[in-house]
Amino acid sequence: MTPDQIIEQIGSIRTAQPQNLMARHFNAAFFRSLDDQKRQRLMEIIASGMENPDSQMGAYAMHSEDYDLFAPMLDPMIRDFHAIPATTPIAQQHDWNTTAQDCDLGEIDPRLKEVSMRVRVARNLASFPLPGAMSKDQRIEFENIASGAFMKLINDPAFGGQYLSITPGSPHEIDAAEYDRRVSAHQMFKDMSGDPYLNVAGISADWPFGRGMYVSEAQDFLVWVGEEDHLRVMTMLRGGNLNTLFAHLHTGLEHLQTLLPAFATSTAYGNLTSCPTNLGAGMRASLHLQLPNLTENGTDLTRVKQEAKSLGLAVRGAGGEHSGAGEGGLVDISPSARLGVTEMEIMQRLYDGAAALWKLETA
Ligand code: ARG
Repeated sequence: MTPDQIIEQIGSIRTAQPQNLMARHFNAAFFRSLDDQKRQRLMEIIASGMENPDSQMGAYAMHSEDYDLFAPMLDPMIRDFHAIPATTPIAQQHDWNTTAQDCDLGEIDPRLKEVSMRVRVARNLASFPLPGAMSKDQRIEFENIASGAFMKLINDPAFGGQYLSITPGSPHEIDAAEYDRRVSAHQMFKDMSGDPYLNVAGISADWPFGRGMYVSEAQDFLVWVGEEDHLRVMTMLRGGNLNTLFAHLHTGLEHLQTLLPAFATSTAYGNLTSCPTNLGAGMRASLHLQLPNLTENGTDLTRVKQEAKSLGLAVRGAGGEHSGAGEGGLVDISPSARLGVTEMEIMQRLYDGAAALWKLETA
């Protein structure tokens, strides 16, 4: 395709799919101004949104420096998604002081003492391309660096646990049945080769090489290796106390960081991630709430999505991204913002939002 044809094709996506942020902010003048090599690079970044016009974001960075090199195109998309006006400077701040505020949902209602809580952060190493541009050898080399770090973590009695690989021939390889069990237990990630967005971006390439998961002895601290980002570091706990959840993640993350080469970051965008939706804190914190009244017993998410949106929360079904509501109206709620908010602001938003939805549910 010639540059003119590409510009025309993106123009028709913009008309047909106004939610596609890549198409909405495609900058034809900038695109034309690039030399062939840079234009090719930008094409790879936006390919997912061109071939999947129903995309929300429609782009994945391939290298951490893409956020600088292609800022005239990417920055407006990032601001649009994270609701940051063009004139407001972006400088991601971090705050992990989990003791400064009390966010225990169990104090609101004893029924909230058993909710399932999950918080994850995305991290990438500065020394490798982002997953969409990694070669098979690099995926395997990265997994070896990560598994080396996990062996040290396993020696620490506070963590223990094991590293489970799905790389054929890996010394840590698990069989298909064990993999399926871990997916059903919501610990391990699904087969990425079924995801059309990731496929076009090359992020799921060479599946299942270089993919695996660390799980702690208590099964509450997990690290995904080789998914949409190099690392997805997470804690999963039952109970309503968000302070405990966030403090647990922070402890594990700090420890892991000392065992690995430097993460990719920038002063503006904080943690650099494949998908621009995850920049900043790189954090997604969620709760599973049973909301039968707000969801017509799990059959209709319209009302709960609308209420949640005004609280700055996104709603998914309990089965993950793009799933419907679960049994008895079980939904997953999480603060939408990742960039321009600190970790503790995300915790507070989740607490306030969950409390407000619970009040509506039980009114
Ligand atoms: N690329 C997809 C889109 O633009 C997914 C975006 C958000 N989800 C994610 N897992 N990064 O709609």
